[in-house]
Amino acid sequence: MSNIEKTLAIIKPDAVAGGFAGKIISTIEEHGVRIAAMKMVQLSTDDARRFYAVHVGKSFYEGLIDFMAGGPCIVLVLEGENVLERWRTLMGPTDPQNAPAESIRHRFGTDVRHNATHGSDSSEAALLEIAFFFSGLELPLPSIHPKESSH
Ligand code: RTP
Ligand code: MG
Repeated sequence: MSNIEKTLAIIKPDAVAGGFAGKIISTIEEHGVRIAAMKMVQLSTDDARRFYAVHVGKSFYEGLIDFMAGGPCIVLVLEGENVLERWRTLMGPTDPQNAPAESIRHRFGTDVRHNATHGSDSSEAALLEIAFFFSGLELPLPSIHPKESSH
């Protein structure tokens, strides 16, 4: 049964500053994942705190906030069959040292914080994260087709 999903991806400040955005976007397209929306944004510290609020109190939280607010990111909505799991597989695990050679985090990440990309970890998170960055007007719906007239 088809399971078309949407997820939020971020090309993080390390990967944008390193000049890897094009290669990461190409990788997405080469794997047949549709880019439904995309833009460059600079998060304020407050934006980053709200986006990663789930990690408040963890040892890495303050460092993560400084990193995410430290330069522009590219945020994308990805759409496709099982795209949540597919995008997280393409990224690889959080720590690039543990990531398979062909994964995005191995290719473009540096360490467990500076790991090139983000992906939503559940469909509930994906809905909230997409709404955090994109308004309805910024999300075209090409997958909706007008119904055939019935009269
Ligand atoms: P993300 O949310 O960015 O897709 O990453 P993830 O699910 O693979 O990992 P998560 O546990 O949600 O962590 C969020 C981000 O925090 C930074 N981090 N630093 N030990 C550390 O210093 C540490 N652990 C995590 C990473 O940037 C990670 O992606
Ligand atoms: Mg996460």
